[in-house]
Amino acid sequence: MEIPVFILHFCIYVLTTLVVAFDLNGIELDTAVQRRAPGLEAPAKLWWAKEITPDFHVAGRLTDRQIKYAAEGGFRSIVSLFTYETDDAGSFGGEYLPTSAEAWAVSHLGGLQYVALLGQGDDWASVDAVQKLAAVLPMLNRPILLHCDRGYTITFVTLMYMANQTRYNPDYEPKIYSDNFYRITAAMGLDFTDPDVKAVVANITGEEIVENPPRHNCEPDEWLDFWLAHPISRLWFAAGQIRQCDIKMLEAVGFKVVINMRLGNKNNGKPSQEPVTLLNVRDGIPTYGNETTPPRQDLNTLEKTKIHRHQSTEYVGHKSKLNFEIENPSEFGDDIGYNEENERKLFEKSSLKYYHIPVAPDTNYTAEMFKEVKDILLEAGQQGPVLLHCGDGRRVVYFGVLAAAITEGKDLKWALKRTKELGFEVSPELSPDVYKLYCSSLDLKKTTNKDEL
Ligand SMILES: *[C@@H]1O[C@H](CO)[C@@H](O)[C@H](O)[C@H]1NC(C)=O
Ligand SMILES: *[C@@H]1O[C@H](CO)[C@@H](O)[C@H](O)[C@H]1NC(C)=O
Ligand SMILES: *[C@@H]1O[C@H](CO)[C@@H](O)[C@H](O)[C@H]1NC(C)=O
Ligand SMILES: *[C@@H]1O[C@H](CO)[C@@H](O)[C@H](O)[C@H]1NC(C)=O
Repeated sequence: MEIPVFILHFCIYVLTTLVVAFDLNGIELDTAVQRRAPGLEAPAKLWWAKEITPDFHVAGRLTDRQIKYAAEGGFRSIVSLFTYETDDAGSFGGEYLPTSAEAWAVSHLGGLQYVALLGQGDDWASVDAVQKLAAVLPMLNRPILLHCDRGYTITFVTLMYMANQTRYNPDYEPKIYSDNFYRITAAMGLDFTDPDVKAVVANITGEEIVENPPRHNCEPDEWLDFWLAHPISRLWFAAGQIRQCDIKMLEAVGFKVVINMRLGNKNNGKPSQEPVTLLNVRDGIPTYGNETTPPRQDLNTLEKTKIHRHQSTEYVGHKSKLNFEIENPSEFGDDIGYNEENERKLFEKSSLKYYHIPVAPDTNYTAEMFKEVKDILLEAGQQGPVLLHCGDGRRVVYFGVLAAAITEGKDLKWALKRTKELGFEVSPELSPDVYKLYCSSLDLKKTTNKDEL
């Protein structure tokens, strides 16, 4: 008996769907908990905060603006692992990094608690650092943004605090053992495989020293000097809107290519600037307004879309007469919104190769659309480490994970796992269009090296 081809196709379709659905449930994530999309209530402002648990997010050393963004996005406390004294003000690509006293003052203007844990010269990879964190945590409102210089040491101390809780408090969740500690940190692009550090892990967990823990393979090795990025895999990193000061850092760190997926000033001949982030102004208000509502950066609209009505003008800046911001040139904003041309001009003066692939925030991710951008992505991947950015990281994670899977020979299962680990789950329920695109572009399962990201 001959079975009509379409029935056969249908059966294969049903089968693969079933197998994939089954597989999806079986994916074990290398995160402490299933992460949410980064950035709490303000993803455009806080896309760089990395969630360990809903209460603990980690970051590198913060600017004044980032502290304020933390407050606006729903954090309630900041823990700085180190104390920055008056001679220890820093710079990130030319952007001023406040001392602890200054950071404390800014935190208070934003309504945040602020604590600095260790003095200068204290050992970070130590039992003592973990005990100090344990001692302050009960006094702090959550969620907490914990930071050090590059988000490295604070991740260690936070996870070791959780490991110690796991060891001594049977009710503690999520559980951290040596085994998942190394998998979680490798998936974050962090390396704690130094013998001295491994000994501290063993001391705190009470387990054997792990002989060959998984290690990330991200390039450049020192990508963490640009700690804001989210590593996708070896050469691919995702980010939200970057700042002027970031370009110098990206060059210094060794990135070769930046791909911007935000809409430009015009799309199909129509004005299409996306909103820029503004202090004490809510995100998510459209740029241009409509018949009844004036544009977002109109004074009346801004006044109505403030986050805290009675915020001080001091919060916005020493010279500010208003308690909200009107423009944000540091993130390439103009008097309308985000201006891609301003970003492009700065990249043209750098050694980085810059591509602009406009993708609308509410786009449907189709195979046709991917076909149009695929060649550029693959070309970019051949030139060295790539930073993809959009507004909050969502668009670039969807495309970046797919591009990474194709260029690095990963399968569908890896791609679904990776998007979930990055907080942007791809599944038939949550993002059917992306799910379909992934299914049509990737093999279900390949044998991959377990230690790779
Ligand atoms: C681990 O927890 C125990 C019990 O609460 C405590 O005595 C110890 O100091 C903690 N160790 C670290 C490294 O935090
Ligand atoms: C763990 O570290 C503490 C503090 O450095 C030390 O006193 C203790 O002996 C260590 N325990 C083990 C089993 O190495
Ligand atoms: C105009 O924009 C406002 C605010 O975004 C919205 O609430 C309203 O429904 C819009 N009106 C029309 C006619 O689209
Ligand atoms: C995306 O696809 C859905 C379902 O096919 C449709 O309802 C929606 O309007 C599309 N959105 C855009 C921006 O094209």
